[in-house]
Amino acid sequence: MSDSRTIYHYGAPYLEQDDIDAVVDVLKSKWLTTGPKVSAFEAKLNEILGCKYSVACSNGSSALYLASKALDFADGDIVIVPSITFLATANAPHMAGAKVVFADVCPKKGIITPETFAGAIDRAEGTVRAVFPVHLNGVPCAMDSIADVANQHNITIVEDACHAIGGGYSIDGSMVGSCAHSSMSTFSFHPVKNLATGEGGGCHNK
Ligand SMILES: Cc1ncc(COP(=O)(O)O)c(C=O)c1O
Repeated sequence: MSDSRTIYHYGAPYLEQDDIDAVVDVLKSKWLTTGPKVSAFEAKLNEILGCKYSVACSNGSSALYLASKALDFADGDIVIVPSITFLATANAPHMAGAKVVFADVCPKKGIITPETFAGAIDRAEGTVRAVFPVHLNGVPCAMDSIADVANQHNITIVEDACHAIGGGYSIDGSMVGSCAHSSMSTFSFHPVKNLATGEGGGCHNK
């Protein structure tokens, strides 16, 4: 019996012959993991983003976890994350020992604003150590104003730029994830994201 249902693929990245050739080259090399292509990828990310340090990760979730561990949370430290995002934005700081407080988001864009961020700081009971703004669906948060609020309270900014590689801020021309307004940034290179490596992620620092 034939099945006439249409199958919609969860992720269908656009791949060209040179992408396939590059994968075949790796498969024929002795380096199936952590080889020279990984260092070349990290160097290219530094070049594109204007960052000093990029670390290739197994996915965006591990990039967020790496950034969270680097913050070395003390007991009771709080991290503010948007109330609309993928679970990993909250799970990563939680797994690294922080308490998570959710900030409201702009009803039209789904991203945090300086006002909703400030509101979450007011509601938080304890030391707010960090905020993880998410550039949801590639829409950049107002990082300069968010940084103004963060600086007033000595709060570290980690950009969850998992949806937004290649994006930029019209306000100063800097790239999303360049750490121009943050201490660290993270990307996901999962097939449903703007740039796919299969599974993959990146954690970046200026
Ligand atoms: C906003 C956001 N952050 C982090 C992640 C985690 O990325 P990954 O699936 O590569 O672990 C995702 C994945 O969908 C995401 O949408």
